[in-house]
Amino acid sequence: MTIYGHGIRTLGVLGSGQMGLGIAYVAALRAKVPVLLHDRSSAQIQKGLALMDRLLEKDVAKGKIKAEEAKEARDRVSVVPPEKGMSGLQDVDMVIEAVSESLPLKQAIFGSLAADLPPSTILASNTSSISITKIAASTIPEGHSASSKEGLQSPSRVVGLHFFNPVPVMKLVELISGLQTSQETMERAKAFAMACGKEVTSSQDVPGFVSNALLMPFINEAIMCLEKGIATRDDIDKTLKLGMNHPMGPLQLADFIGLDTCLAIQQTLYQGTGDSKYRPSILLERMVDAQWLGKKSGKGFYDYS
Ligand code: CAA
Repeated sequence: MTIYGHGIRTLGVLGSGQMGLGIAYVAALRAKVPVLLHDRSSAQIQKGLALMDRLLEKDVAKGKIKAEEAKEARDRVSVVPPEKGMSGLQDVDMVIEAVSESLPLKQAIFGSLAADLPPSTILASNTSSISITKIAASTIPEGHSASSKEGLQSPSRVVGLHFFNPVPVMKLVELISGLQTSQETMERAKAFAMACGKEVTSSQDVPGFVSNALLMPFINEAIMCLEKGIATRDDIDKTLKLGMNHPMGPLQLADFIGLDTCLAIQQTLYQGTGDSKYRPSILLERMVDAQWLGKKSGKGFYDYS
């Protein structure tokens, strides 16, 4: 039996929001691999790099890492500018996609990645709820059937690698296999997550996987409690923080994750299972309509301005 190491000499990270940046950070600092960061927005890339600089400085100031380690990690990260497109990731051994939770967006991205990158490149998604099987199917070139040899090569290299926010701190990565994912892809992706300093759990490819099939209904129920006037925002969060020792209450956690992301995941659970118990709270829908998206937009259940 072959035992695979990760074999990743260079990593591509697609999307430099809070998740993509965190993944680039642990890959450069912990796995010590060169990282190519790509985003369709230059402003977002600059914002991400500035955050990385701040995180590295903070870790040096706290004595968690040495100044040379921080410099080496920062030097491992370079940028593929928007105008180069995804073909700028040609030479990487694995890409981790960390863009918004939208199936059409991910399908378009994986279609392009499969067309532009060599067949040996592992294509991982940091999706928190969307079917890896569906994302993998989008790599089948047009005009090829899934049963043709060429058609099968692409989907078998697609895998779910679900990191948690804040990535530098949270110890877990959830590993998800689509129906088409090969054993080699699974083992190499797992080995890479471990090289980033993470523990790995496996989940089947069901809506929300294990983490969000449990977390999002919990957050959604907390929002419904608020909606129904069962308790105040502060009392809901305090109950869970002091009563159950959660580091954040569910409403504060929803703000931290992003209310648009919470809604997208809850909709995936609702549509993917057809079970009414997953119906998103109307208050959550309205807050997203209002662009009150939590910490990132300055307003959610709490104010951050
Ligand atoms: N990036 C990097 N490091 C961060 C950070 C960030 N954004 N925020 C906090 N930290 C670090 C701090 O530097 C600090 O490090 P040290 O221990 O080395 O000093 C440590 O985390 C603790 O931070 P603080 O003392 O400032 O604050 P805290 O004790 O309140 O912890 C927290 C902050 C770690 C975010 C904590 O509140 C927590 O664990 N909250 C729950 C987070 C959670 O549940 N995340 C999962 C969300 S779900 C998800 O991501 C997936 C999904 O699919 C939706």
